[in-house]
Amino acid sequence: MSQTMLAPTHIPVLVEETIQALAVLPGGRYIDCTLGGGGHAAAILEHSFPGGQLLGIDADPQAIKIAREGLEAYSGSTLIINENFVNLEAICYKYDFLPVHGILFDLGLSSLQLNGNGRGFSFQHKAPLDMRLNPNQELTADDIVNTYSETELAQLIKKYGEEGYSRQIARRIVQERPIKTTLQLARTIERVIGSRRRRIHPATRTFQALRIAVNQELEHLESALGQAVNLLGFEGRLVVISYHSLEDRIVKQFMQREAKDCICSPGTPTCVCGHTASLRLVRKRVITPSPAEVQINPRSRSARLRVAERVITQDEHYQIVERLCSSAEVKSNGWRRPTLLKKLRQAFIAA
Ligand SMILES: C[S@@+](CC[C@H](N)C(=O)[O-])C[C@H]1O[C@@H](n2cnc3c(N)ncnc32)[C@H](O)[C@@H]1O
Repeated sequence: MSQTMLAPTHIPVLVEETIQALAVLPGGRYIDCTLGGGGHAAAILEHSFPGGQLLGIDADPQAIKIAREGLEAYSGSTLIINENFVNLEAICYKYDFLPVHGILFDLGLSSLQLNGNGRGFSFQHKAPLDMRLNPNQELTADDIVNTYSETELAQLIKKYGEEGYSRQIARRIVQERPIKTTLQLARTIERVIGSRRRRIHPATRTFQALRIAVNQELEHLESALGQAVNLLGFEGRLVVISYHSLEDRIVKQFMQREAKDCICSPGTPTCVCGHTASLRLVRKRVITPSPAEVQINPRSRSARLRVAERVITQDEHYQIVERLCSSAEVKSNGWRRPTLLKKLRQAFIAA
């Protein structure tokens, strides 16, 4: 199925690289935690044919509707759920969709959300200050912009936007309230920053900060990454594409920590944390789009892909070996090491 049939206005990023990073196999079971227009999902389903299965999740009901239509040809192999990925483990248990061979997060927003569809994500299109992925949620960007104190606003814009002019912007917002639309807010920020910043639009960082705060994006990402590890079978792949440094830092630090056998602070004489590695870094460096991809799809320019593979933790290893060695099957067959290892893999995938 061509990508234009799926989502005419969102071009998926790093598709080939994602399929390779996920090591998609026929018959495999995958989760796309950020279904969006369904572009990555379609590629996963094509490469996992025959027998592949995909669980697709998105917090935005509009995205779900578009993905459902676009992925109709694969309806026998897909399960599409309108949920926040912060509930990843609960969703997988509810639908008995575990363990899995790969999990993908393609973070941020799709072009469908950014293209001025009245959701308030873009400073280039007039819309109410909303910015909720899930329209049933209470908190909106309007609430933050029009009710937070100057100090709270400055802290939020600094923390989630890494904006150098956060205090000046917050002061101006408070002076000019009520601010009800995206364009009104963008103009307020332009009056503070003026022509001092040329590379990106003056409102970029403040809009990013508001969107992150409204949707609790960083907290949800941290939580979901931890849950993802518990859902992966042995050698299952975790792939994350992020679009700004705050997200990428969380992903990088999470993968690095989970790839270590001890996370005690440096200088601790003997290990007290008891942590054992649950991931192996498949690539230490990030994967970024080629210049050709950036030329075709300028929105891909900030994409950074990281990939890690599930390994058996020491605890899991002991539990499986113990269970397996005491099983009547092993005792009666007197299996040697290669057969035992093969059985171990099977046992772990089925665990
Ligand atoms: C960059 S788009 C994904 C595009 C998709 N990979 C494709 O090929 O079309 C990100 C999607 O993730 C969704 N999203 C962001 N945060 C989410 C969360 N916490 N839970 C569920 N979906 C989320 C957004 O609604 C958006 O549709």
